[in-house]
Amino acid sequence: MSYPMPEAPLGVALIGTGFMGKCHAMAWRNVATVFGGAHPRLEVLADATPESAARHAAQFGFARSSTDWQAAVADAAVDVVSITTPNGMHRPMAEAALKAGKHVWLEKPMALTLGDATAMAALAAGHPGQVTILGYNYTRSPAYQAARALIGEGALGAPLAFRGVYDEDYSADPLIPWSWRLTHAGGGLGALGDLGCHLVAQMLGLMGPVAEVTAMTQIAVPERPSPEGPKPVENEDSALALIRFASGAQGSFATSRVARGRKCRLQWEVHCTGGTLVFDQENMNELWVHRAGEAGFTRHLSGPEQPDFAAFCPAPGHNFGFNEQKVIEARDLCAAIAGGPAAAPGFAAGLEIERIIHAMAASQGKSIAIGGGHD
Ligand SMILES: NC(=O)c1ccc[n+]([C@@H]2O[C@H](COP(=O)([O-])OP(=O)(O)OC[C@H]3O[C@@H](n4cnc5c(N)ncnc54)[C@H](O)[C@@H]3O)[C@@H](O)[C@H]2O)c1
Repeated sequence: MSYPMPEAPLGVALIGTGFMGKCHAMAWRNVATVFGGAHPRLEVLADATPESAARHAAQFGFARSSTDWQAAVADAAVDVVSITTPNGMHRPMAEAALKAGKHVWLEKPMALTLGDATAMAALAAGHPGQVTILGYNYTRSPAYQAARALIGEGALGAPLAFRGVYDEDYSADPLIPWSWRLTHAGGGLGALGDLGCHLVAQMLGLMGPVAEVTAMTQIAVPERPSPEGPKPVENEDSALALIRFASGAQGSFATSRVARGRKCRLQWEVHCTGGTLVFDQENMNELWVHRAGEAGFTRHLSGPEQPDFAAFCPAPGHNFGFNEQKVIEARDLCAAIAGGPAAAPGFAAGLEIERIIHAMAASQGKSIAIGGGHD
């Protein structure tokens, strides 16, 4: 696939400077170095306090800083807005950016509720000249792309089953303080919105649309300490689901933020009629492939024969990393703006991910039809 890059610099506004803010900033600073095109103009950085905004603008290389995100998205020098704030701010910030005529790079999950995500997708559909892309960075890794290509080419026959897990342990200690992530108003869904959505994004690319889900969720730690005393945890710490795909294939799905020892265990396997694929994000440069008739699995190491690896490094075995996925995400956004392949997932495809995770949260043992259709 060819990815045209912008010939004129894109003006960028970045909102938020935490984990993802820095990750977007690195991607904006590296995208033209790695993939060509005009280097973006880092125009304005907005953060919650003037001190943090000014310090991070200097550190990340942005020309100006602000605490006024509304002014940043409306800024005439800005073409694209990177939104890396807590989940509850995604809808107002993304909608303001779209209404101001900007392209939008929004972190996952898309929104707090399915209603919010539906409204955002409708607004984006009304602005067809503006590109939207969501932060599903794990779909950019060369190993995942290789798995997708093998399935797409039919090299392993037809997919029969998906077994997927995304576990972390960032909330495993019950003394970890209460935060916005644990509320409906600040976080929306829990493990499903934070982790499960990434697994759904990969699953859809490997298996195609979901027809039906049945799920159960659990709050393992009902309250957590805060300076004002214990506060309730409102959203799920973990979820388990069974899935029927539109193809007729079946799936199992699990996610947890309280899985002791698991750091970024985004792990799945796909059983096909002619073989099996196995992947684990903690070893993200490896795809394990079994073909019918072989005794076991062969390790396929990501390497420079894959264009998105070669863009960073010409040497095999010199591994690709988490932040590089984000540079590819920025490339996909820039290429779409420059008239190349549509950025994915945009808000329309992102809404399908939201439909699935919200159905899982609502299911509590009942089957819910999804009837999905996006790639
Ligand atoms: N794609 C991924 O792999 C991934 C990983 C982690 C987080 N995320 C997502 O990224 C988002 C942010 O998560 P994080 O871990 O970076 O959070 P964080 O707490 O580290 O950063 C949030 C940032 O938003 C800023 N902010 C808050 N209110 C603001 C306001 N009114 N105006 C401007 N800035 C404001 C904060 O100051 C902070 O800089 C979440 O939606 C999360 O789900 C995605």
